[in-house]
Amino acid sequence: MDIKKQLTEIIIKYTNDEAITEDFISGLISVPPEEKLGDFALPCFRLAKGRKPFEVASELREQILSGNDGEFFSDIKVVGPYLNFYLNRGKVSDEVVSEILRDRENYGKLKEGEGKKVIVEYSSPNIAKPFHIGHLCSTAIGNSLSRIYDFLGYDVVRINHIGDWGTQFGKLISAYKRWGVREDIEKDPINELLKIYVKFHEVAKEKPELEDEARHNFKLLEEGDPEVTALWKFFVEVSLKEFNRMYDMLGIGFDSFAGESFYSDKMPEIVDILREKSLLEESDGAQVVRFDEPNMPPCIILKSDGSTIYATRDIAAALYRKRHYDFYKNIYVVGTPQALHFKQVFGVLKKMGFEWADDCVHVGFGYVRFPDRVLSTRNGDVVLLEDVINESIAKTKEIIVENGTADQIDNIDEAAKVIGIGAVLFEFQKNGRERDIVFELAKMLDFEGESGPYVQYSYARGRSVLRKAADLGIDYKNADLGLLTDDLEYQLVKVLQKLTQQVRDSASKNEPYIVTRYAIEICKAFNKFYNSTNVLKSEPDVRAARLALIDATTSTIKETLNLIGVGVVEKM
Ligand code: ARG
Repeated sequence: MDIKKQLTEIIIKYTNDEAITEDFISGLISVPPEEKLGDFALPCFRLAKGRKPFEVASELREQILSGNDGEFFSDIKVVGPYLNFYLNRGKVSDEVVSEILRDRENYGKLKEGEGKKVIVEYSSPNIAKPFHIGHLCSTAIGNSLSRIYDFLGYDVVRINHIGDWGTQFGKLISAYKRWGVREDIEKDPINELLKIYVKFHEVAKEKPELEDEARHNFKLLEEGDPEVTALWKFFVEVSLKEFNRMYDMLGIGFDSFAGESFYSDKMPEIVDILREKSLLEESDGAQVVRFDEPNMPPCIILKSDGSTIYATRDIAAALYRKRHYDFYKNIYVVGTPQALHFKQVFGVLKKMGFEWADDCVHVGFGYVRFPDRVLSTRNGDVVLLEDVINESIAKTKEIIVENGTADQIDNIDEAAKVIGIGAVLFEFQKNGRERDIVFELAKMLDFEGESGPYVQYSYARGRSVLRKAADLGIDYKNADLGLLTDDLEYQLVKVLQKLTQQVRDSASKNEPYIVTRYAIEICKAFNKFYNSTNVLKSEPDVRAARLALIDATTSTIKETLNLIGVGVVEKM
């Protein structure tokens, strides 16, 4: 149930004006600053058309109250040119709570995206390079956007655009041939590969001829030379194994791992089209596409040695995706530093005549900063995802032990994992994504702050009452939900009915924080209600209704957290 939508529809019915649309009315409706002024207010100036707004308001009030929808309201007041609507609380509570308890994990989901494909590309780490915290941001946000679009009914395709192609592989092959030890790499792939890669750069400073050798190796790789290709495959395999371990830990998956190498044979076509349309120009030996916009540097398509680059692969990837998936939207969750890259890629596609370039969206995000620097970094300045996650899990376990609830929890390691990982994912999605994230473990794990654990704790609290009620043999299946009319109960119901609206808003801006904030909002309303009453000691009728409300609340919290990839625990 969407109460604002319902109100909008009722108002339209009684305005008797064909020209008035849902969007127009919905845009006029506001929520008064105080509960006592009603649930919603409608200014009638723009409906008056030359008449007095007060008169129009009074007339509308009469018509609504005497019509079939009268029972939706407990009162409608005319205040000057405004109409203040007081909804029938019992009716709203009944409808909202029964809908949640009926639909459960599907509550609020829509079909509006049916038949439309949305590609969400996220994570996209580089083979043989560390999976760093920036990749975690992309992974967290992309995973959430996939779930958010799925909620709205879109057909979502989750792509991991692995960085598995490019001149760096020529270097890695040279390095491996000199210093690589297969067994060591198998044991600790990323670190060992990184080590020899770094060594390559050090040695190449003295011996520049290494660079030529590396370029030659990449050329061989592009030509499909068997020996070089086998080595490359080995690097990809061992790296992916490590990345997959991380995805499993996070509970995050993909439909496709088509990375940069997948497009290596699809680039000549791009170069051909660009040539044919006379879009390629020479610049210092390289082939580039220039733009008309003043501050847009040209996009390099072919390097002077004829090899293609990152941008060319992205152009080929976009065209492939359009042909293969016929996407409605093609979303790239990649850090804001690559904003120009995507502007160039989309710009080239547009110049090639592909109007669908406008359906390609770069969803950027800021940096993660570590002010307290308590995290150990094994690789110089790169903060690794695994270290962050492990530290968060360990700390969570400490907190649980300190809180003294450890013996009630069935599997403390399992719980610490869900809470520790949840805390990081939650924190990464709490603010607008372009803002930098300040990584402070203590804050992220503050059970009373605006954190993942706070939301999970609210959930566990609700679940614990429901368990107690079950132990006492209290049944609330047939509760009279119309009894939920007290201020705090009704406020909670009103928050619960906003789920769909919040998810829609989140998708329209590609901003998961809207869902994250909503989870906090539910918990605030829930805790206010919960702290103000002793549910189990209420009168039986009221008790049943309140238990149903708690059930609906925990169900909605779980569903909301699931949208941002965060799990729940029954006890904590
Ligand atoms: N592998 C790149 C990196 O780690 C990110 C890839 C982003 N996606 C893309 N289609 N270019 O920086």
